[in-house]
Amino acid sequence: GQLEKGGYPHFMLKEIFEQPDCIHDCMRGRINIEGTDIALSAIIDHKEKLLHAKRFIIVACGTSWHAALIGKYLIEKFCRFPVEVEYASEFRYRNPVINPGDVVIAISQSGETADTLAAVEEAKNKGAFIYGICNAVGSSIPRATHTGSYIHVGPEIGVASTKAFTGQVTVLTMLALTLAREKNSIGNEEFRQVVHELSTIPEKMKKVLEKNDSIANLSQIFTYAHNFIYLGRGFNYPVALEGALKLKEISYIHAEGYPAAEMKHGPIALIDTEMPVVVVATHNNQYEKIISNIQEIKARKGKVIALVTEGDTTIKNIADFCIELPKTIPCLDPLITTIPLQLLAYHIAICKGKDVDQPRNLAKSVTVE
Ligand code: G6P
Repeated sequence: GQLEKGGYPHFMLKEIFEQPDCIHDCMRGRINIEGTDIALSAIIDHKEKLLHAKRFIIVACGTSWHAALIGKYLIEKFCRFPVEVEYASEFRYRNPVINPGDVVIAISQSGETADTLAAVEEAKNKGAFIYGICNAVGSSIPRATHTGSYIHVGPEIGVASTKAFTGQVTVLTMLALTLAREKNSIGNEEFRQVVHELSTIPEKMKKVLEKNDSIANLSQIFTYAHNFIYLGRGFNYPVALEGALKLKEISYIHAEGYPAAEMKHGPIALIDTEMPVVVVATHNNQYEKIISNIQEIKARKGKVIALVTEGDTTIKNIADFCIELPKTIPCLDPLITTIPLQLLAYHIAICKGKDVDQPRNLAKSVTVE
């Protein structure tokens, strides 16, 4: 009903706008008030096991799989453990190699996805230590794991996942930082800087949400499109995948997410005057490279929608449309850059008259194979 939507026309929009509060709730009791320290209790409780891990394998489906990919980058960066990311459905059916000392992280909003649950059972039978990252308290996956952390973002009703994704990324960030601290693989200075930046993310998310009207206007231009390409590099590569998935799910426009540098190995052939290309081009350490990727698209007359850092002037001169976002450090950028892509997908779907909360053929949680 209207009441449950808190004045928003759809659950999806409500859940997008809840993100600053959700991320605040997700960090509550885990990051101190001063924003100088972090501890995820499950990591501390099981640190012996985790510090002796041979490798990490993260299993998930859909949007949770995109969070998993960001988790890999975070754990590798801060903890220097090898990390693999697997689609739960592929992992469970191929007699995966699991050795004692392997830690499997299962990510699931609902905690009920059949493939992810089966992957957990498979890995558990083979002797892995299982860590769950879920939203639905008391659901099947948390019950099947050895330990884990809830994301605490509240019930997610919209079929297209939004706040659960940013909640998962936040927990993965806290997990990587807590573990890195225990492992001494992060310096004090860097630890404090990242924790402090993380504590400022909810405020920055509010700034991003102020772009809602301009993103709604922009969306009207692109309802003609039958295809979209999304590009990003580094921590923003999984964001490109997630942006494309959101558009597919609710607007039924075909969209492909790609690592920006891979574009020249195929997708560049698709670029013409009709092709919108969304480029996550915020100011991080691969900024110069992303500028040349944008130039390659413009040289072929593609339409570039760029997500840029506030105050950017270079990309503003070459992209067709820019969405300016608050600056943060590269490893936290997904928490900022995902939001405008959620809004873009939402508004394009609305312009096309689609039912964003109940997209055709999709289920909130896939509990059967
Ligand atoms: C379904 C939903 C997606 C979700 C995926 C995994 O496909 O439509 O939004 O990302 O399942 O769900 P989970 O609950 O395991 O995160």
